[in-house]
Amino acid sequence: MQTLKEAYKNYFTVGAAVSAHWLDEAASTVAEHFNTVTCENEMKYNSIHPHDYPRPDFRKMRRGEKPDPPVITRRERFVDPSLETDFAPADKIYRFAKEHGIAVRGHNLMWHASYPWGIFEQLTAEEIRKNTLSHFNLVSQHFPDCYCWDVVNEAVDDHGGYLRQTVFKEKLGDDYLLDIYALARQYFPDAELCCNDYNEYNPQKRESILKLVGRLKERNLVDVIGCQCHINALMGDKDFEEIKRSLGMYADTGLKLHITELDVNCIDWKNPTALPPEDLQNKVTETYRRIFGIFREFKGVIENVTVWGVSDRHSWLNGFKNEEHRRNYPLLFDENYRPKDALKAIIEF
Ligand code: GLA
Repeated sequence: MQTLKEAYKNYFTVGAAVSAHWLDEAASTVAEHFNTVTCENEMKYNSIHPHDYPRPDFRKMRRGEKPDPPVITRRERFVDPSLETDFAPADKIYRFAKEHGIAVRGHNLMWHASYPWGIFEQLTAEEIRKNTLSHFNLVSQHFPDCYCWDVVNEAVDDHGGYLRQTVFKEKLGDDYLLDIYALARQYFPDAELCCNDYNEYNPQKRESILKLVGRLKERNLVDVIGCQCHINALMGDKDFEEIKRSLGMYADTGLKLHITELDVNCIDWKNPTALPPEDLQNKVTETYRRIFGIFREFKGVIENVTVWGVSDRHSWLNGFKNEEHRRNYPLLFDENYRPKDALKAIIEF
């Protein structure tokens, strides 16, 4: 069997998200099959600036109560995050990639789900600006060779509005994204800047993504639209058509496309399936075959397809909304890193 990267060399580069926790056991598979890697969490703000202050009380938040804001100690470390850093986990992945001639996608520079929760809410706009500048400066010096950066991850609203309400928008104003992307251009002049989001095939959300990238493109502040592509093995024909239509609309912007976080979830959260594992695996295989069929039609526009993990042993889907720990089979290698039928199907297309 060919390797994945050989099979796709005339189409696009192929990547995998990896974690420093399990990189060692995945290393030979990654080096054999993939051209690029993304750090699953290690380059996010809270990983690079680990903190000892409490996480929000999500139980309280789910009950609609406002959790108490943490008391800020040593405020200066939030204004200048270079005072407190831990690059070791990301360094491990970056070094591995360099040693194997693998390119690194930078993920990500700003995200509403990875910042000192409850702290930024108490900073002034000026302090947040200083924080962002210091963080971008530090990251650009530490990882000068990422060929692409997801700039503001998931900035678009999920409920039909334009932009997501985040602490950054609240503090920096409605046009904050123009400033943040301009700053990214300044600090990462050689990298592609990517606007990355999920549910990108939802027509309402697609409209907001197109509006945002349009505004950024006018100012030459974006190069790539990132489609996360967290999809489901129980999708139907209509969903595949919507994906194809969306990729067509994104391609019409003239920007490049990256598929940034592909995985095939086997669980319907609202209606947990009782299908036996073999049937689920077959559905996963068929879904990979169909989705890669669509990606292949966008040869020349899609520049990279990244799978969100390597082996079914480690996937965020094994935990997310899955308190009963139902088995999930979202990736291309099984729990023992053996190639699954899904991998064979997309290689022997
Ligand atoms: C989002 C983020 C990723 C990752 C996944 C779940 O899609 O962009 O970094 O956290 O959720 O693992």
